[in-house]
Parts: sequence; C-alpha cells; structure tokens
Amino acid sequence: MLTQYYTASSLDGFIAAEPEDGLAWLLTRDVDAKGPQGYDGFIAEIGALCMGATTYQWLLDHAPGEWYYDMPCWVFTHRTFPATEHDIRFTSEPVTAIHAQMVEAAAGKNVWVVGGGELVGQFADHGLLDEIWIQYAPLTLGAGAPLLPRRIEFEQIEHDQNGEFSCRRLRVKR
Ligand SMILES: NC(=O)c1ccc[n+]([C@@H]2O[C@H](COP(=O)([O-])OP(=O)(O)OC[C@H]3O[C@@H](n4cnc5c(N)ncnc54)[C@H](OP(=O)(O)O)[C@@H]3O)[C@@H](O)[C@H]2O)c1
Repeated sequence: MLTQYYTASSLDGFIAAEPEDGLAWLLTRDVDAKGPQGYDGFIAEIGALCMGATTYQWLLDHAPGEWYYDMPCWVFTHRTFPATEHDIRFTSEPVTAIHAQMVEAAAGKNVWVVGGGELVGQFADHGLLDEIWIQYAPLTLGAGAPLLPRRIEFEQIEHDQNGEFSCRRLRVKR
C-alpha cells in the first residue's frame, strides 16, 4: 500500500492557474491515458482517495452531475456541501485519522491524495506520503495553486514522455 499524489503541473510548479483560468491549460493537451504513467494504470491500483474543498468545488462547477470514482473519497473541508449519492465523506478530522480510514477502506490498494498541494503537504508532515507522480505540461503559469509547498527530498523511480507531458514518478526519501 502506497500513499500517492498524482497530478499535472506547469513547469514552474503550479497545479492550477488563477481561478478565472482554471485547468484549460491542462485539459486541452495531448496525453494517452493508457500510456506511460497514464491515468488508467494509476487509478486501477487506487482503493481510496481524498481531496481539499477547492478541488471538490472545482469538480462540482466544471463537471456538474459527474463523479468519476467508484472508491470512497474524503473531502477535507469546513464548509457544508450539498448531499450526494456518491461515497463522499466530508471531514475536518486530522489527516492522520483520515489516512488510517483510507488505508482500511483501500484494503491493500493504494491511496491517492488528489490535492491541492497544501493538503498533500499535511500528509507529508506526518510521514504519510510515499510517492508523487507529476505530469509536467510544457508551459509556465507564473502564478496559481502550488504543486507541493514543502521542502522534501525525493528519489526518481521513473521518467517518461507521454504526449505533450514529461512524467516523473518520485519516491519520498526516508
Ligand atoms: N493539476 C492537477 O492535476 C490538479 C490536481 C488537483 C487539484 N487541482 C486544482 O488545484 C487547485 C487546488 O486548490 P487549493 O490549493 O486551494 O487546494 P485544495 O486542497 O483543493 O482546497 C483547500 C481547502 O481544503 C480545505 N482543507 C485543506 N486542509 C484541510 C484540513 N486539514 N481540514 C479541513 N479542511 C481542509 C480547506 O477548505 P475550507 O475552506 O472548507 O476550510 C481549504 O481551503 C484547485 O483549483 C484544483 O482544481 C489540479
């Protein structure tokens, strides 16, 4: 079981542009979900996921009525979101407690901290992050939501090209 952060990023380390820009810089690009470090292979090994409230709100705003995950998802928030028929658990409990619940729910599969970067950092602060998989798009954004606002040492496991993306899989050095 690994706790993983799988995300796309600009070359200058932002996972989202300023709000009015959203993810258009990312979602219009050429990538093969079945290719190296592609989404299909990654998600097949995931048994539970979590995300912050901004990421969840983005999904509500940009893909209303859609939900892409059939595994349990925890949303970290202090807000009240509309009820949903999906297995989405809103929480403001400590990340340590939720991580234990995610690992149990995942039943041997990996767990995915979807983002944003500060939430991933909270997991890392407690030694709970094992790997990051980053798909670098060929642009800089100049500003936006940070990839992972912490100082952490990694070792590279894999490096691939997939379409327009330069893909890196890295392991946290213990
Ligand atoms: N490029 C990609 O592949 C990719 C991947 C993921 C996300 N994104 C985008 O990146 C952006 C990330 O936004 P973001 O940096 O603001 O991060 P975020 O993690 O999505 O949301 C931050 C919010 O999560 C809640 N939160 C975080 N930690 C918490 C904790 N320990 N307990 C309770 N609530 C907690 C807080 O919400 P409250 O205000 O409710 O307290 C906080 O304001 C989004 O626009 C998203 O769409 C891009």
